[in-house]
Amino acid sequence: MKKALILASVVASTFWFSCKDDHVVTSVDKDLESAITASSPSGDISHYIMPESDDYANLPNQDVKNPVTAAKVELGRMLFFETGIGLNPKYPVSKQAYSCSSCHVPSMSFTAGRFQGIADGAVGFGDHGESRVKNQHYNGSEVDAQGARPLPTINLTYVTNALWAGSFGSYGTNVGTESVWNLDTLTALNHKGFEGLEANNQRALVVHRQVINKNITDSLGYTAMFDAAFPDIPENERYSLKTGAFAIAAYFRTILTNQAPFQRWLKGDYAAMNDQQKRGAVLFFTKAGCNNCHNSASLNNMRYEGVGVNNLFQSPYDVFRTDINDARNLGRGGFTKNPDDNYKFKVPQLYNLKHFGFYFHGASKTSLRDVVEYFNKGIPENTVIPASQISKNFKPLGLTAEEMDDLTEFLENGLYDAQIERYAPSQVMSGNCFPNNDSQSKLDMGCN
Ligand code: HEC
Ligand code: HEC
Repeated sequence: MKKALILASVVASTFWFSCKDDHVVTSVDKDLESAITASSPSGDISHYIMPESDDYANLPNQDVKNPVTAAKVELGRMLFFETGIGLNPKYPVSKQAYSCSSCHVPSMSFTAGRFQGIADGAVGFGDHGESRVKNQHYNGSEVDAQGARPLPTINLTYVTNALWAGSFGSYGTNVGTESVWNLDTLTALNHKGFEGLEANNQRALVVHRQVINKNITDSLGYTAMFDAAFPDIPENERYSLKTGAFAIAAYFRTILTNQAPFQRWLKGDYAAMNDQQKRGAVLFFTKAGCNNCHNSASLNNMRYEGVGVNNLFQSPYDVFRTDINDARNLGRGGFTKNPDDNYKFKVPQLYNLKHFGFYFHGASKTSLRDVVEYFNKGIPENTVIPASQISKNFKPLGLTAEEMDDLTEFLENGLYDAQIERYAPSQVMSGNCFPNNDSQSKLDMGCN
């Protein structure tokens, strides 16, 4: 009796395998499953499934010097938003008024809410960071802003080398680039043997004008959290930019869009995506060839590719601290100084794009439909880039208008984890407002 039941269910699962919600697999599900299986480097759809955020043992690419622990994640989750450590502003008027998250706003899936992030030297927030503007006490060259659109700090456990150029991290794609690590003080840290996030964050705390030491952890109330997170580090080294950076890296590795419809579909909830999203996903992994570049669980890739887009200085927007000579315009080549790498940028992750509002490193597109049309045409918009620097996989795709609609719907909603704000803290130890703490931002956020 029991045997017969098991046999029946094996037969049923072979032909009709149904999920926990009892949704029957349709032909588009089957098409999608074969497309994904064929695309997967491991030959299995599990390649694309993200771990749960508290499944620390299965978060990939951790730094052996900094394994993820709950105490580090808890500390990092506060430091990233802590305006109290904003203690090295250009002018005293901005003291303790900005944080890392000034440019990585949770409700915008940890991007800036605008084409360029500005921390020290700006005021205001609006609803999601879109209304932040330069403080009139500062001139444009004095603000903290960079010559590229901020990357989102989500799904970073799949990033071994940080930034659009991959400049940070001693391993991964940076093996063999040691000779350039001394060319600027920015990447000298790579000589110390860190993964990308550990290296990037130490430098980022300095670049973004923040300070961490024992006096500060005492006065803001963080000392016990550092003790819990780093008991093995001698006390005279425990309260520092380095440990702060390590805690933020641990936190970053847990910010995963693992509840997006596509993730739920991969885990067997076939009703999580609608048919249009499924058709778009099939195109992504077949005719549109997006998976030739975007092919990890976060759909990023630690590879640098040229797709010919414009730079931030060329945008119609009012941007600071960038121009035609910005090394960031050269992408990977700006870091390696190897002309073969010029105009090639890291293949970014593709979840929660709906929130970004601006796409590509130069914010040259403002809708996902425009991005899809750009890839479909396969013609570089930046005409100064030599053809040799454009990827062979960037070429006309021949998608119909309907296919572009389907692909856009997959990107916009199939890859969208609506509860992304679950990763933000409800408060920070100082009790200050965050992400920003200037008076206009406080008004905008209804804070205090
Ligand atoms: C002034 C705005 C701004 C602030 C403040 C800021 N960031 Fe960023 N962040 C950016 C920009 C812009 C990029 C992309 C720059 C590039 O790649 O050239 C970026 C990229 C990153 C990346 C790389 C992500 C990837 O996929 O490679 C990480 C990690 C990061 N930031 C962490 C931090 C941390 C930690 C802090 C605080 C210590 C911080 N950021 C503060 C603007 C900002
Ligand atoms: C040749 C490799 C390659 C292929 C093929 C490719 N991409 Fe990309 N994609 C990239 C790179 C590199 C970037 C970043 C370019 C930049 O900003 O300079 C990018 C950026 C993006 C972005 C913007 C993300 C952001 O954070 O701004 C989206 C959306 C995107 N790709 C979607 C797609 C879709 C959809 C397809 C298939 C139609 C596709 N890509 C095919 C390499 C590729």
